[in-house]
Amino acid sequence: MNSAAVEMSLITAPTTLPLIAPSILSADFANLGQECKAVLEGGADFLHLDVMDGHFVPNLTMGGALCVSLRKALPKTYLDVHLMVENPLMFIDSFADAGANLCTGHIETSVDPLEFASVIHQAGMDAGIAINPPTDVDVILPYIEAFDLILVMSVNPGFSGQSFIPEVLKKVTAIQEQLRPDQRLQMDGGVGPSTSEACRDAGCDVLVAGSAIFGSQNYAKAIAGLRDQ
Ligand code: DX5
Ligand code: ZN
Repeated sequence: MNSAAVEMSLITAPTTLPLIAPSILSADFANLGQECKAVLEGGADFLHLDVMDGHFVPNLTMGGALCVSLRKALPKTYLDVHLMVENPLMFIDSFADAGANLCTGHIETSVDPLEFASVIHQAGMDAGIAINPPTDVDVILPYIEAFDLILVMSVNPGFSGQSFIPEVLKKVTAIQEQLRPDQRLQMDGGVGPSTSEACRDAGCDVLVAGSAIFGSQNYAKAIAGLRDQ
């Protein structure tokens, strides 16, 4: 981890699992600092930053400059960067410099997964690998040993507010059987009050939620609900 000030790691979590990571893509960007502080005060464990390049997914969102500002405003918060980009290797150094703690790229890119994990670790961050709903789980299984976190996408990436695809839960079971205790399994997309229990039961211990948290009236209640609803 590249920031000594950050108080949590994926392994020694300060709260019971599952960890809850609000996706700031659903926040009010005009009040982003306040939105981030509000979800952290409401019990969120860390922040999930969705980086999109308009090529790997049909949307543009945020980049390293935003991560720099969040690190400055929130020196102790673990920052989870989800890279939905064609060439995730290209961005590792800039996110390390920006103070990110975890970089996750996609198995669907042409980047060699083992090289990807190694470059992230050398940059002082935790490494994650993500798999999209249409991709067969067998594609990712040979590489999971090299990563700190495996991200199972439960929507086709690109946008918040999509419906959860329940078929991906089978992948969670297959991946979970191979994980060490120090590795985390994250679910992202359409996670909310009606889907969080199925994610937890399948073995997910990190839940990302955008619209279910930022679209609610009470962030603390929405976050607590993801842990036990
Ligand atoms: C989708 C992103 C997700 C998304 C989550 O491409 O990776 O993190 O913003 O938003 P919800 O929870 O609204 O599906
Ligand atoms: Zn994401």
